[in-house]
Amino acid sequence: MAKKAKVPQYDRASEDVGNIVSLEHVNLLVPDQQLATAFYVSTLGLTRDPYMMTGVDNMWVNNGRSQLHLPTRGTQVLRGHTGLVVDHYDLLAQRLKAAQDVLKDTKFSYKIRNDRIDVTCPWGNRFRLYPADSRFAPMALGMPYVAFDVPRGKAAAIGRFYSEILGAPAQIGKFDDAPAALVCAGAGQRLIFRETRAKVAPYDGHHIQVYVADFSGPHGQLDARGLITEESDQHQYRFQTIIDPANGEPVFEIEHEVRSLRHPLYARPLVNRNPAQRIMTYQPGQDAVMVG
Ligand SMILES: [Fe+2]
Repeated sequence: MAKKAKVPQYDRASEDVGNIVSLEHVNLLVPDQQLATAFYVSTLGLTRDPYMMTGVDNMWVNNGRSQLHLPTRGTQVLRGHTGLVVDHYDLLAQRLKAAQDVLKDTKFSYKIRNDRIDVTCPWGNRFRLYPADSRFAPMALGMPYVAFDVPRGKAAAIGRFYSEILGAPAQIGKFDDAPAALVCAGAGQRLIFRETRAKVAPYDGHHIQVYVADFSGPHGQLDARGLITEESDQHQYRFQTIIDPANGEPVFEIEHEVRSLRHPLYARPLVNRNPAQRIMTYQPGQDAVMVG
């Protein structure tokens, strides 16, 4: 009798994404586009979007399939930090060192750690830059997560909000050794809400943008609770307050731009450059980085 072939066992649930299919951008006002260019483009090595927002009043900066939006009209600081997997991580430290002069007299700073570099922008926004490795594989370039600092005891309620109202699977786990809601925000992307004992700064209006497959379901739930803050257009609405669905209590503020998959910008191909290109070591044909 033929031996029965062994059926491989796979964790099918680990492939589930949930309703948020992409965490596309973080929007932070900046007061000075020259300094923003020196930091985000020349120092971090990200790419200014060549097609959209090409004036001096705003700048879109690409990293993989995600962006930072940087309108030039003030200062906003995210209450937490943004994770970025960058191209040619090995060259980052020397650019950070070189930036100390042009970014002096600002809040710019950096710390090289074992397996990442922590960088603060000229106005206090914090980033953790990672090489492409097993932590975020297969992402080779992109924004694997945005991590928010939230008051103690709020992670579970935030997890309930995303799973019950947004349809985004959320686990309660740990991040930086503290309890955190880990919310799936796309394949290989997360929104992280990490509890902190420190005082959480007042909310200053920065925002994040997500694409959702079920657009009307969360809208109905948010609208029923009076949480929609803007009916932007056919393809987009906004909300700002995260509540505990168990009792309606507000637990955290972060404006979400919620877009449907029919939004014209959905899955827009983003230009990404190779930050290693230099005149003295120029390699023909290697200007672009392809994002899979
Ligand atoms: Fe936005």
